[in-house]
Amino acid sequence: MPKTTKDKLFGHHYGTGLYMDNKLIARFKEFYTLETFQVAFYKAQANSATDEYYRRAFEKLVQIEQGHADYFANEIGNANEEVPSLTGSFFQLAGNLLGESVEPLGRHNTCKLGAALENEAIKKYRMFIKECKTKNYLIFKYTLMDYLLDEEFHTLWLKDYMNSHPG
Ligand SMILES: [Fe+2]
Ligand SMILES: [Fe+2]
Repeated sequence: MPKTTKDKLFGHHYGTGLYMDNKLIARFKEFYTLETFQVAFYKAQANSATDEYYRRAFEKLVQIEQGHADYFANEIGNANEEVPSLTGSFFQLAGNLLGESVEPLGRHNTCKLGAALENEAIKKYRMFIKECKTKNYLIFKYTLMDYLLDEEFHTLWLKDYMNSHPG
Protein backbone atom coordinates (compact mmCIF):
# COMPACT_ATOMS: atom_id res chain seq x y z
CA MET A 1 0.00 0.00 0.00
CA PRO A 2 1.66 3.28 -1.06
CA LYS A 3 2.01 5.98 1.56
CA THR A 4 -0.24 9.00 1.28
CA THR A 5 0.72 12.46 2.48
CA LYS A 6 -1.64 11.98 5.39
CA ASP A 7 0.12 8.72 6.32
CA LYS A 8 3.44 10.47 6.30
CA LEU A 9 2.18 13.23 8.54
CA PHE A 10 -0.03 11.38 10.96
CA GLY A 11 0.52 7.66 10.79
CA HIS A 12 -0.76 4.67 8.89
CA HIS A 13 -3.96 2.83 8.22
CA TYR A 14 -3.53 -0.64 9.55
CA GLY A 15 -5.49 -3.75 8.68
CA THR A 16 -9.22 -3.21 8.66
CA GLY A 17 -9.81 0.25 9.94
CA LEU A 18 -7.28 0.35 12.75
CA TYR A 19 -5.22 3.47 12.63
CA MET A 20 -1.59 2.87 13.48
CA ASP A 21 -0.08 6.09 14.75
CA ASN A 22 3.58 6.96 14.49
CA LYS A 23 4.11 6.50 18.20
CA LEU A 24 2.98 2.89 17.92
CA ILE A 25 5.34 2.30 15.02
CA ALA A 26 8.17 3.87 17.03
CA ARG A 27 7.27 1.51 19.87
CA PHE A 28 7.44 -1.51 17.55
CA LYS A 29 10.88 -0.39 16.38
CA GLU A 30 12.01 0.04 19.99
CA PHE A 31 10.84 -3.50 20.84
CA TYR A 32 12.37 -4.93 17.69
CA THR A 33 15.71 -3.45 18.76
CA LEU A 34 15.36 -4.70 22.32
CA GLU A 35 14.48 -8.24 21.20
CA THR A 36 17.21 -8.35 18.57
CA PHE A 37 19.70 -7.32 21.23
CA GLN A 38 18.53 -10.22 23.41
CA VAL A 39 18.89 -12.60 20.47
CA ALA A 40 22.50 -11.42 20.02
CA PHE A 41 23.21 -11.74 23.74
CA TYR A 42 21.80 -15.27 24.08
CA LYS A 43 23.43 -16.40 20.83
CA ALA A 44 26.83 -15.31 22.15
CA GLN A 45 26.19 -17.35 25.31
CA ALA A 46 25.01 -20.43 23.40
CA ASN A 47 28.05 -20.27 21.11
CA SER A 48 30.55 -20.01 23.92
CA ALA A 49 28.90 -22.48 26.31
CA THR A 50 30.70 -25.72 27.10
CA ASP A 51 27.98 -27.36 29.20
CA GLU A 52 25.37 -29.13 27.03
CA TYR A 53 22.30 -28.38 29.17
CA TYR A 54 23.30 -24.77 29.65
CA ARG A 55 23.86 -24.39 25.91
CA ARG A 56 20.42 -25.90 25.12
CA ALA A 57 18.85 -23.44 27.53
CA PHE A 58 20.38 -20.49 25.71
CA GLU A 59 19.49 -21.93 22.30
CA LYS A 60 15.87 -22.07 23.47
CA LEU A 61 16.11 -18.46 24.64
CA VAL A 62 17.45 -17.47 21.21
CA GLN A 63 14.48 -19.21 19.55
CA ILE A 64 11.89 -17.46 21.69
CA GLU A 65 13.49 -14.00 21.43
CA GLN A 66 13.84 -14.45 17.66
CA GLY A 67 10.10 -15.14 17.53
CA HIS A 68 9.47 -11.91 19.42
CA ALA A 69 11.77 -9.94 17.12
CA ASP A 70 10.09 -11.44 14.03
CA TYR A 71 6.66 -10.40 15.27
CA PHE A 72 7.72 -6.76 15.64
CA ALA A 73 9.54 -6.84 12.30
CA ASN A 74 6.35 -8.12 10.69
CA GLU A 75 4.20 -5.37 12.25
CA ILE A 76 6.69 -2.73 11.12
CA GLY A 77 6.41 -4.20 7.63
CA ASN A 78 2.60 -4.11 7.84
CA ALA A 79 2.86 -0.38 8.40
CA ASN A 80 5.05 -0.05 5.30
CA GLU A 81 7.94 1.05 7.44
CA GLU A 82 11.56 -0.04 7.42
CA VAL A 83 12.80 -2.46 10.06
CA PRO A 84 15.68 -0.76 11.91
CA SER A 85 19.05 -1.82 10.59
CA LEU A 86 20.99 -3.32 13.46
CA THR A 87 23.93 -4.85 11.69
CA GLY A 88 27.51 -3.64 11.82
CA SER A 89 28.17 -1.44 14.78
CA PHE A 90 25.13 -2.73 16.68
CA PHE A 91 26.20 -6.35 16.66
CA GLN A 92 29.78 -5.37 17.20
CA LEU A 93 28.69 -3.49 20.28
CA ALA A 94 26.59 -6.37 21.53
CA GLY A 95 29.44 -8.76 20.83
CA ASN A 96 32.01 -6.58 22.52
CA LEU A 97 29.90 -5.73 25.52
CA LEU A 98 28.32 -9.09 26.06
CA GLY A 99 29.93 -11.87 24.07
CA GLU A 100 33.55 -11.33 24.95
CA SER A 101 33.12 -9.95 28.41
CA VAL A 102 30.60 -12.58 29.45
CA GLU A 103 32.71 -15.70 29.15
CA PRO A 104 35.16 -14.53 31.84
CA LEU A 105 32.14 -13.55 33.93
CA GLY A 106 31.10 -17.17 34.23
CA ARG A 107 27.63 -18.71 34.26
CA HIS A 108 26.46 -17.10 37.48
CA ASN A 109 27.11 -13.54 36.33
CA THR A 110 25.98 -14.25 32.79
CA CYS A 111 22.59 -15.33 34.16
CA LYS A 112 22.56 -12.28 36.42
CA LEU A 113 23.14 -9.99 33.44
CA GLY A 114 20.55 -11.91 31.42
CA ALA A 115 17.99 -11.51 34.20
CA ALA A 116 18.74 -7.77 34.33
CA LEU A 117 18.08 -7.48 30.58
CA GLU A 118 14.88 -9.50 30.98
CA ASN A 119 13.74 -7.21 33.78
CA GLU A 120 14.18 -4.19 31.53
CA ALA A 121 12.10 -5.95 28.87
CA ILE A 122 9.41 -6.84 31.44
CA LYS A 123 9.09 -3.20 32.53
CA LYS A 124 8.79 -2.08 28.93
CA TYR A 125 6.21 -4.76 28.09
CA ARG A 126 4.07 -3.79 31.09
CA MET A 127 4.11 -0.15 29.98
CA PHE A 128 3.31 -1.04 26.40
CA ILE A 129 0.40 -3.26 27.46
CA LYS A 130 -1.03 -0.37 29.50
CA GLU A 131 -0.59 1.93 26.53
CA CYS A 132 -2.42 -0.55 24.28
CA LYS A 133 -5.33 -0.68 26.73
CA THR A 134 -5.56 3.11 26.88
CA LYS A 135 -5.37 3.48 23.13
CA ASN A 136 -7.58 0.50 22.35
CA TYR A 137 -4.92 -1.39 20.43
CA LEU A 138 -6.60 -4.54 21.61
CA ILE A 139 -5.30 -6.77 18.82
CA PHE A 140 -1.74 -6.34 20.15
CA LYS A 141 -2.55 -6.71 23.81
CA TYR A 142 -2.64 -10.52 24.04
CA THR A 143 0.52 -11.03 22.01
CA LEU A 144 2.31 -8.55 24.25
CA MET A 145 1.02 -10.39 27.32
CA ASP A 146 2.28 -13.70 25.89
CA TYR A 147 5.69 -12.14 25.35
CA LEU A 148 5.68 -10.58 28.82
CA LEU A 149 5.03 -14.06 30.24
CA ASP A 150 7.91 -15.48 28.18
CA GLU A 151 10.22 -12.83 29.66
CA GLU A 152 8.95 -13.53 33.17
CA PHE A 153 9.59 -17.27 32.72
CA HIS A 154 13.08 -16.50 31.37
CA THR A 155 13.85 -14.36 34.41
CA LEU A 156 12.78 -17.15 36.75
CA TRP A 157 14.96 -19.72 34.98
CA LEU A 158 17.98 -17.39 34.89
CA LYS A 159 17.62 -16.51 38.58
CA ASP A 160 17.15 -20.13 39.54
CA TYR A 161 20.23 -21.21 37.58
CA MET A 162 22.19 -18.30 39.02
CA ASN A 163 21.25 -19.22 42.59
CA SER A 164 22.13 -22.88 42.14
CA HIS A 165 25.50 -21.99 40.57
CA PRO A 166 27.02 -19.47 42.97
CA GLY A 167 30.19 -17.75 41.82
FE1 LIG B 1 11.67 -11.25 24.15
FE1 LIG C 1 13.30 -13.19 27.31
